[in-house]
Amino acid sequence: MKRTKIAMLLSASAPMEQVLVKGWVRTRRDAKDFSFLEINDGSCLANIQAVVEASAKGFDRLGDIGTGASVAVTGALVASPGKGQAWEIKASGVELLGAADQETFPLQKKRHSDEFLRSIAHLRPRTNKYSAMFRIRAQLAQAIHRFFQERGFFCIHAPILTASDCEGAGEMFRVTALSPGPLGPEGMKADFFGKEAFLTVSGQLSLEPFALALGDVYSFGPTFRAEPSDTARHTAEFWMVEPESAFADLADNMDLAEDLLKYCIQDVMDHRPDDLELFAKWVDTSLMTTLSKLASEPFLRIPYGEAVEILRRAPKTFEYEAVFGKDIQTEHERYLAEEHFKKPVIVYDYPKNIKAFYMRQNDDGLTVAAMDVLVPRIGEIVGGSAREERLDRLEARVTEMGLNMECYQWYLDTRRFGTAPHAGFGMGFERLVMLATGATNIRDVIAFPRTYKHLEF
Ligand code: 4AD
Ligand code: MG
Repeated sequence: MKRTKIAMLLSASAPMEQVLVKGWVRTRRDAKDFSFLEINDGSCLANIQAVVEASAKGFDRLGDIGTGASVAVTGALVASPGKGQAWEIKASGVELLGAADQETFPLQKKRHSDEFLRSIAHLRPRTNKYSAMFRIRAQLAQAIHRFFQERGFFCIHAPILTASDCEGAGEMFRVTALSPGPLGPEGMKADFFGKEAFLTVSGQLSLEPFALALGDVYSFGPTFRAEPSDTARHTAEFWMVEPESAFADLADNMDLAEDLLKYCIQDVMDHRPDDLELFAKWVDTSLMTTLSKLASEPFLRIPYGEAVEILRRAPKTFEYEAVFGKDIQTEHERYLAEEHFKKPVIVYDYPKNIKAFYMRQNDDGLTVAAMDVLVPRIGEIVGGSAREERLDRLEARVTEMGLNMECYQWYLDTRRFGTAPHAGFGMGFERLVMLATGATNIRDVIAFPRTYKHLEF
């Protein structure tokens, strides 16, 4: 007999004579002549209860079946007399598939701290909270592909190994096939690629040639940054969603980012209400209000200059003073989205000296057509821009910023041959999962977090 997933059984419309359930035991409770097993198979948040009477096959070995064990239960799906569940299983047989030692299995208690669960990241998906987290994450990933599919965007698999630093921030991990040693760029000639190689910080530079050929494209893949900042919002390995559109300007780019965020949040509310409810109950009691507002109300849009003015007038002392010409800090971003406007804000037209070389220069000579989407609790979730499509301006920026012109010749070709206005952005996928769940630490929304001085599992 094939197994049926618990999510299916719990939404059954009629009893079933014979079903097979496989999953992990959350609890076992014993009465005199029968036992209750609460079984979860990860297909949904809810457990199914199996009632095992003395007549059931395997009843005599129930003593070996404790919290954490994996089991196969056969029986009938019957209406449950108990409260809180429509169906339960009247077991005819129970088989232990994998035991869990009750002395050493770490997930005995009902609630554990996030910090403790991080230290056993390989077991935390067995908890309600983290199985819900990763079902939500999977739902959001699907929503992203569907969003772009519906709008005629083509998915491009951008390379992960790269020779160019997209953001020019020098935060790249080096990749080598050589043994450790004091190798400079000269020594790298002996290496696999015959030159220095890195892990990509963004797929953007690879996407632009495709946008200028296929029109609307996106990538959704892992990106890597060697930022030695140990914050609750940064990981060294994270996933980024990056659309890139030909013939689009900054306003189109902002519209797309806002639509994408709204679509994802609405999608997860529609499809994973039970999992979200867990977070609304235990993590952030205002979660559902925040999400509904986010999905329905327009985001605010203000120029960077205005944002700095608001910050300078704010009745609040920041650790870093807000100054025109300097980057907006996370504390500033959060103040704007969380306290001042109390909703997502798109800040645009940043000073060019704090932004990447590829951003389109505005006529004022001071700013570029960049935009960041800031959301409550997190700060920046999206960063993007219109791209400098004018060859002479772009070359001037490459030189001004001291980048190696030779390395960018292939990229400059896109401006030499049939250049066109285009725009795109990157959305941090983990930050989206944080937004959707109310999680406050990025380490809790990615399967095995890689952070500064921390690479386990
Ligand atoms: O603003 P960023 O650096 O933009 C780019 O890399 C552009 N090339 C993207 C593009 O236009 N195609 O990064 C984009 C987003 C940020 O807004 C943030 O959400 C996320 O990526 N991000 C991180 N998420 C987790 N950990 C980190 N270390 C992150 N760095 C950026
Ligand atoms: Mg950014």
